[in-house]
Amino acid sequence: MNAPGDIELRPGEPHDVEPIALLIERENHPRVGDREKIARRLEGLPSIVATEDGELVAFIHCRRMAPDIVELSNMVVAARLRRRGVGGAMVAAMEDRLHAEGFRAAVFVNSRLHAGTTDERVAAARAFWLARGYTIVFATAGTAVFAKVLGDG
Ligand SMILES: CC(C)(COP(=O)(O)OP(=O)(O)OC[C@H]1O[C@@H](n2cnc3c(N)ncnc32)[C@H](O)[C@@H]1OP(=O)(O)O)[C@@H](O)C(=O)NCCC(=O)NCCS
Repeated sequence: MNAPGDIELRPGEPHDVEPIALLIERENHPRVGDREKIARRLEGLPSIVATEDGELVAFIHCRRMAPDIVELSNMVVAARLRRRGVGGAMVAAMEDRLHAEGFRAAVFVNSRLHAGTTDERVAAARAFWLARGYTIVFATAGTAVFAKVLGDG
């Protein structure tokens, strides 16, 4: 798995639950990291974490929407490491693993209506998913649903 500089990517493991919850609490304030939910997400489906000198600095996980479709259910990159390609490298690695496991599409839901979200954060996330080749397939005034066919579909 390729990532910039000293960042290493690997699949998420059960011992990553607590560092992921702490990253969410630190970077995605005021959300509380739901440890049980994170543990479920890391179990049985692909996930990717990024580490720097052994410290967990980013993650992405998913949940099954259909036998061949996942929702990329949450993703955070530590603020000090953004715009360095870490998020893009994680999504690319995640898509490869999903495709290898038989998944043929991925969906991401981005909403301005979550507590604590800012216009700036929403704009960054939307620009990010568009840059990764996702398209908006449905939107309300506050929420956009992004989707991408993986591989040849
Ligand atoms: C969205 C997020 C995961 C992106 O991670 P990242 O490591 O910064 O993303 P990358 O460096 O791989 O960016 C890839 C491309 O996405 C787009 N992009 C990313 N952040 C952007 C921003 N703030 N403004 C405009 N475009 C942006 C750019 O096209 C960028 O390429 P470039 O830097 O060559 O211009 C990160 O900003 C984050 O963790 N945000 C807070 C958590 C969050 O909102 N999570 C849910 C939605 S993903």
